[in-house]
Order: sequence, then C-alpha cells, then structure tokens
Amino acid sequence: MRRTVPLSGPDIGEEEVRAVEGVLRSTILSIGPKVQEFERRMAEYSGLRFCVAVNSGTSALMLIMKAAGVKAGDRYLTTPFSFVTSSNILLYENAEPVFVDIDPLTFNMAPRALEERYATDPAKETIKGIVGVDIFAQPLDWDPILNFSRKHGLQVIEDSCEALGSSYKGRSCGTFGIAGAFAFYPNKQMTTGEGGVVVTDDEEIYLLCRSMRNQGRGVAENWLEHVRLGYNFRMDELSAALGVEQVKKLDVFIRKRNTVAERYAKLLAGVEGVRAPVIAPFTTRVSWFVYVVTLAEGIDRDRLIVYLQERGVQSRNYFTPIHLQPFYKERFGYREGMLPITENLSKRTLAIPFYNNLTEEDQEYVVHSLKEGIERFS
Ligand SMILES: Cc1ncc(COP(=O)(O)O)c(C=O)c1O
Repeated sequence: MRRTVPLSGPDIGEEEVRAVEGVLRSTILSIGPKVQEFERRMAEYSGLRFCVAVNSGTSALMLIMKAAGVKAGDRYLTTPFSFVTSSNILLYENAEPVFVDIDPLTFNMAPRALEERYATDPAKETIKGIVGVDIFAQPLDWDPILNFSRKHGLQVIEDSCEALGSSYKGRSCGTFGIAGAFAFYPNKQMTTGEGGVVVTDDEEIYLLCRSMRNQGRGVAENWLEHVRLGYNFRMDELSAALGVEQVKKLDVFIRKRNTVAERYAKLLAGVEGVRAPVIAPFTTRVSWFVYVVTLAEGIDRDRLIVYLQERGVQSRNYFTPIHLQPFYKERFGYREGMLPITENLSKRTLAIPFYNNLTEEDQEYVVHSLKEGIERFS
C-alpha cells in the first residue's frame, strides 16, 4: 500500500502549544523573559558561559564573523560540501572561501586535503582562518585541524548549525571555534520555527553579538542609542517559548533519532548499491541531523528521487557542492573538476526521510521503495 513519508518533521507536544499560547496571552511578544530563559538553557546545554538567541542560524554565523573581525579580501579554508550559508558568511564580509576537498566517508573537510591546499596556495598570507562545518551532525576531525590552525596562526570558526548535541572525543560540537552557532529550522534536532543561537565562553564576543543583534544598542540597551552598526536579528518570545520546551526534551529527541538511525542501518544492510552513513571512531555522540545514504556508482540518483516521490517518499540530493552553485560559478569562475571527491559524492548522496517519530513500518516502506528504485535505475 502506498504511504506518504515526508523528509523531516518537528516533534511538537502539548507543552510547546501551551508555552506559545502563554506568550500570546502575556502580550510580551518580543524582548522578554522567554528569550532570557532560552539563552540560559542553551548556554547550559552547550556547556559554555554565554548565549545570544537570534532569528536564524545564518544570523548567528553572521554575527560571529563580524565579531571575529573578518575583513574584505581575507580568505578562509572551508568545505564545499555544505549548506550554502557556511560559505556565504564569508561573502557577506567580502571575504573569500578557499575550498578544500572532503573525506569520502564522513563528508567532512579532510585534514590532509586542508594541509595540502594551504601548502600549495600562492597567496597564503591572505588566508586568515578556517570555517569548519560539522556536516550532518558528524564532528569534523578537530584535533589535526586545531593543531594546524595553531601552527599557522589561523582563526577557527565553527559552523555547528547541524550538530547540536554531537561530540568529538567527548567534547561538544559548537565549542571548537571562537564561538559556536546552532540553527533551529523545523528539520533540525529541535526547533524554534526559525531561529538560531551563538554560544561562546568569550565575554567580548558575547557582548558584541548581543549588541549587533539588537540594532547596535550598547550594554545599557537604551532604545534610541546606537553605539555601533547593528541589525535586527532578535529572536521573538514565541520562538523562544517553543525553544525552551524543545531543549528540555533534547536528549530524549536525540535518543529517538538514534533509534531511527539504528533501524535504518539494519534495514539497509541487506540492500545492494547503497551505503549507510559511516560514523568515525572519534565521534563520541552523534545527534543525527539528516540521514544521508551513498549510492553506488552508476545509479541514476535524480531519477530515483522522482521514483521515490511517486511512491510518496520524499528524498533530497544533499548537497550540490557550493562551488558549483550558479552564483559561485559566475562570481569566481569555479567549474567542475576542481574538487573531485566532493563532486563525485554530491551526485551519489541522498537524504531519506528522517525524524524523531518515523515509524518502523514507514522505514521499511522507505527502504523497500529505495531497493526497488535502485534495481530500476542501476
Ligand atoms: C551547515 C549549516 N549552516 C548554516 C545553516 C543556516 O541556518 P538557518 O537556515 O537557520 O539560517 C544551516 C541550515 O540548515 C546549515 O545546515
């Protein structure tokens, strides 16, 4: 029987509904106690001293880049296999990405490739740092990357938007750069509708981000006094109320996601032409953002996506490499062939339905449909 299985979906309970309703009834819709409570809880969860709640993960990263003092002409080593934001945050500052190829098993920037890319760069002095991304909630191999950054005096920015709750050798994602960023779009481990946070131990970065998110107001937050150029990146009270209830349940959510991932791994073990995600030995906890499988060479992934859709199963081609996005090609003259591992994998990766309450029956249906599609399009 045909089923409908979406790619993702939030896990919203009565507690969330009541909390948002409570904000509506309170009439304090912005700059109120819920944002404060959410920030306190997120700082606590991440194990860092400070948190600034904002209206998206992109805004969180934009604030971090500004607080980091990224300047026009600076270049940063980063991954092409990511959501476009991790590179766009450089372009917003008129800085430039220097793309490094990835590890084919973890999909993360490969430390060896990073070293080689740096060593062969003709304008090393313009490379100021690294934007590392913990892709699909898998931590980067941070030790060699941090050692390399120290050796060459490079700044480290971590885009941990997909990795809330994951850890590397026991250390939480979001704690490796000068500040961490988490995002709460409804497909993430937890949601605030739209939203994000900056988390950091650095008080100066914290105060700067706080001020810039709030139109550049100073510490006293006088409404009509602006001490620097700022933005309106504030999170509203409704989103924060939702976030407070979600973060209380986050560890339960991560356990549920783990169960779903384990079931997929078992079901996929018997299917030819598809590889389940590989968890690196240094990953001590994975909070499972999306579930991305890799298809064998020769399977027509894009026709498979259409076939699955016809069967009611939503899937997506995570990711088109950033350097091959139309406006990157136009602006920088990037072309196919520059980053062979990324380019090859990006034609073979497929995100399949994944969310907390995905049922075993639906997972069996997804894998069955995938198997049929693979047989058809090999
Ligand atoms: C790696 C990465 N960085 C940044 C973001 C940006 O987050 P948002 O969509 O909340 O702006 C995302 C969102 O999916 C992401 O996956």
